[in-house]
Amino acid sequence: MSDIILKMRGITKRFPGVVALDNVDFELRRGEMHALIGENGAGKSTLMKVLGGVYTPNEGRIEINGKEAAITKPLDSIANKVGVIYQEFNLVPTLNVAENMFLGREKIRGPGHLRKSEMERQAAKAMAQLGVRDFDLRTKVKHMSVAMQQLVEIGKAVFDDIDILVMDEPTAVLTERETKGLFQVVQKLKDDGMSIIYISHRLEEVIELCDRMTVLRDGRIIETIDNRDRNTEKDYIVKKMVGRELGNYFPAKTAAIRPDTALEVRGLTRKGTYENVSFSVKKGEILGLSGLVGAGRTEIVKSIFGADRPDRGEILVDGVPVSIRTPNQAKKAGIALVPEDRKREGVVLGMSLRDNICLPNHEQICRLGHVSRKKRLELAERYIKDLQIRPGDPDRQIKNFSGGNQQKGVIAKWLAASPKVMILDEPTRGIDVGAKVEIYNLINGLAANGTAVIVVSSELLELLGICDRILVVNHGRISGEFDREHFSQDAIMQASFDMGGTEHEGV
Ligand SMILES: Nc1ncnc2c1ncn2[C@@H]1O[C@H](COP(=O)(O)OP(=O)(O)OP(=O)(O)O)[C@@H](O)[C@H]1O
Ligand SMILES: [Mg+2]
Repeated sequence: MSDIILKMRGITKRFPGVVALDNVDFELRRGEMHALIGENGAGKSTLMKVLGGVYTPNEGRIEINGKEAAITKPLDSIANKVGVIYQEFNLVPTLNVAENMFLGREKIRGPGHLRKSEMERQAAKAMAQLGVRDFDLRTKVKHMSVAMQQLVEIGKAVFDDIDILVMDEPTAVLTERETKGLFQVVQKLKDDGMSIIYISHRLEEVIELCDRMTVLRDGRIIETIDNRDRNTEKDYIVKKMVGRELGNYFPAKTAAIRPDTALEVRGLTRKGTYENVSFSVKKGEILGLSGLVGAGRTEIVKSIFGADRPDRGEILVDGVPVSIRTPNQAKKAGIALVPEDRKREGVVLGMSLRDNICLPNHEQICRLGHVSRKKRLELAERYIKDLQIRPGDPDRQIKNFSGGNQQKGVIAKWLAASPKVMILDEPTRGIDVGAKVEIYNLINGLAANGTAVIVVSSELLELLGICDRILVVNHGRISGEFDREHFSQDAIMQASFDMGGTEHEGV
């Protein structure tokens, strides 16, 4: 048996206006874990969609186990023992685990109706293969933590008896602890002989896990790096990815905090979710909310934004109590939220980038009561430039941008509204290093101009890098507060884990 399990040769994929893949050669060795890395829009997901039969390339061919593999639809890839977990989740929220695993598989699983018990038995077997045993297969996916959903995605992939597993950003939505759990699952699959392609923007993680890494830039292969000693320099990879040296990751802090309070929250409570949450943010201050996924951070900021109703508590903007029952009222009060789940809440996928940016910014694009086409274009173009959204085409539909560039679009739309209080929930999730630096600079710039900024993030290093102050949320309560002079990674981790309570469901 050859050492090479998969060869992709001369793959070219063109979309209107972009060459997403330009004559790409890629090889996967049997039993290796191989990272695919590159900036947002580099072509990583597209290459994997070609392998998964979602896209047909304009040119190129695929060989698996030395034989030409004709992959023109998703079922062909499964028939070739390739399982792909895509960047955006593909589970049906209203179905349970077993039903999700069987969805669309009827053809391979044989005709006729499988008995429910048989379906559940097989689903349980797939999950056991991952080392996941004690959970209810009948739970609907929408009631599960994201970490658990991620495991179900993997279970669904290995369920098909595959040799090659592709994971497109599996950890983007997980906390550090959940990530560790996922790594164990991946390690187990690897020990069982699976060949794995792994896409991630978290370079530390890639260095820790992968045997080799292939860098893509602008649809071309730049280099394949041997990492069997787990010792590759991060700066080296970054340079290959962005094609230039990247300066400091975090912007220099400009002393911008003003004496006046922009937002105050008093005794905010939503039963079973968070309790008695009180804090304030000053103008020009960057406040971080740290904690585990599921600790209640997203729910707290959603309530401030009027997307969730608290049972009790008060919200004050510029010292004045405001009644916020809807996002529209929050917006009027000067509060903006870049949500965690951009696909569901952040953008209108079928609309153009320009329309998405202009959507909440009606006033700015009107002149004498009419929408001004010129102003619309100016507004969109300004943010495309500031955030370096690629490709810089305001008319392209949001859904046709890469994951990271979609996220920049969401941020742009709220930046354009110039809010007094800007809340960003996991703003750099799934965003490459270069774009992260751009977003950190933007956040810093917002604060320098007097905006109060709240950042929810599961990447502690990021909060330590950009915030003036960090609050830790643990089981719906604030369990710690740290000023920049007293930042300590250990103490913050401690505050997010302790309090005895049961561990968060998940991996
Ligand atoms: N369905 C599509 N229609 C048009 N253009 C597309 C489509 N899918 C991807 N593209 C374009 O192809 C290029 C590569 O995108 P791709 O999603 O593969 O990037 P990526 O490396 O996965 O980025 P990210 O890290 O942001 O997920 C981008 O310029 C993107 O806008
Ligand atoms: Mg992608």
